[in-house]
Order: sequence, then structure tokens, then C-alpha cells
Amino acid sequence: MSLGARKAATSDPLTRAQAIATVADYLDARGVDGAQEDARALLRAAAGLTRLELAMTPRAPLSQEEARALSRYAARRAAREPVSRILGERGFWTLDLAVAPSVLDPRPDTETLVETALRFVAERRDAPLSILDLGAGSGAIACALLSELPAARAVAVDLSQDACAATAANLARCGLSDRAAVVRGRWAEALQARFDLVVSNPPYVRTEDIAGLDPEVRLHDPALALDGGSDGLERYREIIGDLPRLIDEDTVVVFEIGFDQAASVAALMEAEGFKIERVTRDFGGHERVVAARLGPPRP
Ligand SMILES: C[S@@+](CC[C@H](N)C(=O)[O-])C[C@H]1O[C@@H](n2cnc3c(N)ncnc32)[C@H](O)[C@@H]1O
Repeated sequence: MSLGARKAATSDPLTRAQAIATVADYLDARGVDGAQEDARALLRAAAGLTRLELAMTPRAPLSQEEARALSRYAARRAAREPVSRILGERGFWTLDLAVAPSVLDPRPDTETLVETALRFVAERRDAPLSILDLGAGSGAIACALLSELPAARAVAVDLSQDACAATAANLARCGLSDRAAVVRGRWAEALQARFDLVVSNPPYVRTEDIAGLDPEVRLHDPALALDGGSDGLERYREIIGDLPRLIDEDTVVVFEIGFDQAASVAALMEAEGFKIERVTRDFGGHERVVAARLGPPRP
């Protein structure tokens, strides 16, 4: 799209509010959900504005440079690239994380995992907890937990070298590198330590369902971050079978799950001796997180 053309036709520069409306119409016509919100985010990025600055100055004119940047962003969004990937960052928990092409774009649903994990360690918030994040990707979960648990340390594992680099970059961005180690490996295979808290958001999409996902996901999230095997549960099997050697009765294991996988993942864990402590729903009301321990359930 070209916002510059509109400017030439009217000879008046577009205002920020007009530019948002124009981009929103353009995106809406191309089937983009949440076009208005995306147009605002892209305008803010193109003009380097905070939410407040934009709210205070809707009638300010767009410079040519801003109009060109916004046009480029809008064209990418129309091609179904997520806003977070266009801008290279996304808010997660209380943090601003970089979103590299090699990692899953961290989702709000995953904040439910963070919230659940924190509830289990609430009474040990200041203790030197050891955390294992399996399939760290952007490092979203490890960063969020370390940001809330000031004496905790984390090991973040990913099979992808690029994902490991992205995890390390976000840990550094959040000032958390000194309490974390990033390990490239197949789940916990290379580890010997014992952990107080194990968290994981493994790939859980059925292989045959990947082709039907929205283009934002199918074309932009890496296949390694999505593919959960033929029934979507293969990665849980790989992880759960190896966990008992890394944990004790007090360790809490917290998994993110697909919306219809709670019973299946719980059954896999119970078969390995785990007791299910909690199934938590996400903001959309779907069962999203399973938490379990090897020891007896706590009151
Ligand atoms: C769904 S993404 C989760 C990323 C991040 N934890 C989050 O919640 O946004 C799953 C991650 O698991 C990694 N992964 C896939 N198979 C793996 C394996 N066998 N061992 C370690 N990591 C793996 C992928 O590279 C990807 O980064």
C-alpha cells in the first residue's frame, strides 16, 4: 500500500488518526483480524510513539518518512505477518521481548503457565529455586519466572541453535543472564541436575493440523516449535519419560497444553507416577496448563 499516494492526491498530509483509519480499512479488506488495533500498533512503531503520545496527538501530520515506514509495515501485515514479527518485539508478562524468526512468537496463553508456576512457589519466592525450561524458544517463560523470583536460577534448553541464541538474547535484554544457563539439547537429555520447578510449552499441534493453521502461525512460527507428532502428544511423551531422574517429590512440573489435551497429558503423567495438582484455564476459558508432582497432592 502507499499512504504517500493519498497525500499527493489531497495535498494535505494525512493525520495520524487518518493514517490509522486508512491502514485499518486496508487490512480489514484483506481479512486481517483486529485490523484497527494492528493499524494503531504499526503507526506507533512507524512514528516512534508511545500509546499515550498517540492518544494525545491524533491530529498531528504524518511525515513522509513515517508514511513510508507505515506503508511497508501495512503491506507485510496484509501478507499475514504478525505485528510482533514486523516490529521484532512483543510484550510478555511484564517484559518486552525480542521476537526472532527462529522462535515461536510468545503467546498470552503462555502467561497462564507462568502464573500457575508462580502460585506453586509463592511461599518460596525468595528461595534459591532451580528452574528447568524445556523448549525455551524466545526464553519467554524463563525470563518471566526469573523476573519474579529474585534468587532463582534457570536452565533453558532448546534443540534449535538459533532458538538458544534468541533465549540468551532475551535473558540479556531483561538483565537476567547471570542467573541462567542456555543449553542446546534434546529436552533434558544432557542434564544431570535436580530441579525445584520444571516448566515446558512443548510443540503440541497434530502434524496433520499444521496445514490448516492461520497463515500468521503456519508461515511464521517455526515447524520445530509447532509439530507435536501424529496425535500432538509425542513431545510430552519424550519429556515425561525422562523427568523422574531430574526431580523429587516436591518438584512441580508445569506444562502448557493444547485446548483439548488436558485429559491426555494428565494420563501420560499419571502413568509415570505423577499426581495432578491443578489444571488451569487460559483467559479464553480453555484448559491450558497442567501442573503435577510425583509426591502426594498438597492441600
Ligand atoms: C511451542 S515452542 C515454546 C517456546 C517458548 N517456551 C514459549 O513458550 O513461547 C517449543 C520449543 O521447543 C523446541 N523444541 C522442539 N523439539 C525439541 C527437542 N526435542 N528438544 C528441545 N527443544 C525442542 C522448539 O525449538 C521450540 O523453541
